[in-house]
Order: sequence, then C-alpha cells, then structure tokens
Amino acid sequence: MVTITFHGHACFKISSSKFSLIIDPWLKNNPLADIRPEQVKVDYILITHGHGDHFGDALEIAKANDATIIAPYELATYCQSKGAKVHPMHIGGDYTFDFGWLQLTPAMHGSAYIEGDNIIYMGNPCGFLIEIEGKTVYHAGDTGLFGDMKLIGEKVRLDVAMLPIGGNFVMGIDDAVKAVEFLKPKAVIPMHYNTFDIIKKDPSEFKKKVEEKTGTNVVILHTGETITL
Ligand code: NI
Ligand code: MN
Repeated sequence: MVTITFHGHACFKISSSKFSLIIDPWLKNNPLADIRPEQVKVDYILITHGHGDHFGDALEIAKANDATIIAPYELATYCQSKGAKVHPMHIGGDYTFDFGWLQLTPAMHGSAYIEGDNIIYMGNPCGFLIEIEGKTVYHAGDTGLFGDMKLIGEKVRLDVAMLPIGGNFVMGIDDAVKAVEFLKPKAVIPMHYNTFDIIKKDPSEFKKKVEEKTGTNVVILHTGETITL
C-alpha cells in the first residue's frame, strides 16, 4: 500500500509498506506546513531544486534520520559538503533503489540557492518519476508547461501527478490543465499555490477545468491530508 501525505506547498511524503520518502521538505518557514522538521521520519529526501521553498529543511532532516538525499548532481554535492549522505543523479538518469525506481525529469525553472549575499547555482532543477510498490508517481517540481510532458504520459501510466498551479513562478491553472492532458494521470494533486499572495489560486477552478477536459480525477489535499493509492 502506497500513501501520499501533503505537508504544504510542494512537500509530500510518500510511504510504501517498507520505505518513506519526503519531497521538497520546506517546513520550518512554511506558513502552511502541518509538521516540524524534527517530526519527519524518512529514509530518503528528494529535492527538486535549490530554491529555499523546496530545499528547505532537507539537511536537518537528512542528518536527524541518517537519510539519503537524492537530487541533481550540483545540489547533491552541495549537501554532501554540508555533511549529508547523498545520491547524486541528473536529468533523464534513472536508478533502482531499495524502495523502487526513480528517474529525474526536466523542469523549466531555476535552481539558485541564496546564502546571505551569495547566490550559489545548484545546476538544473528537476522533477521526479517514481515507481514504488507497483504505483507510478510524478512530482513535477517547479516548472512551466513543456511539451516533453507528453513523452512522460506516453512512457508510463501515472497513478498520480503532483503539478504546480500557482502561476507567477510556475504553471498557472490553464497550463497545468494542458499538462494533465499531456500526462494523462489517473489522479492529479495541485500544489505550489496559496502559500503566498503572489501564487493565490482557486484549486476548485483547476478541478472543474481538468474534469471537463480529461478523465483525470483531481484530488485537492489540505496540509496533513493523505491519499492511499
Ligand atoms: Ni523554485
Ligand atoms: Mn517554488
């Protein structure tokens, strides 16, 4: 049994019967988060890019859990230099872990990490395609709409896709609806909206438009809510 729990913004915990992964654990400074970093118990931490609202509390959680960070090479190497256990990967690369199969997908975005006055570039941002206990999950990361989402939809049968809908930095509702048409997942969970005023969006508008145009079920999760696949 695979469960997905939403912890606000782009943070999700995915658990199988044996393993737990957390994606983009930005909790401490996230106004919508329902848990604190010290409450997270996981085996792996997946980070899509270096922006603070995704990188978040990854280092702290990695060290507290002796968990492995999976991220694009540059970001993973930075985490390693800070003492974390890492597994570096890159776009298009896949690897079979003990929990299942994982591939890094492209994301149209940036990946700088701001450390005081320094801007440290963390390579390319990514999304994650994950096969765990027979279920296939896609977390798009922060991204604009791009045509290769069609390839992902052709390649795998997605049980669920997590897609940003907040606009401004990432896809807005109409582009995210197009992404659903490309990806053809059984279910889609909107993310990366309403955390700040600049990304205010009505997820029920997304739900209505997706369900008018596609056979995909839209699952709107509030922070702390879980779905079982
Ligand atoms: Ni970002
Ligand atoms: Mn973001």
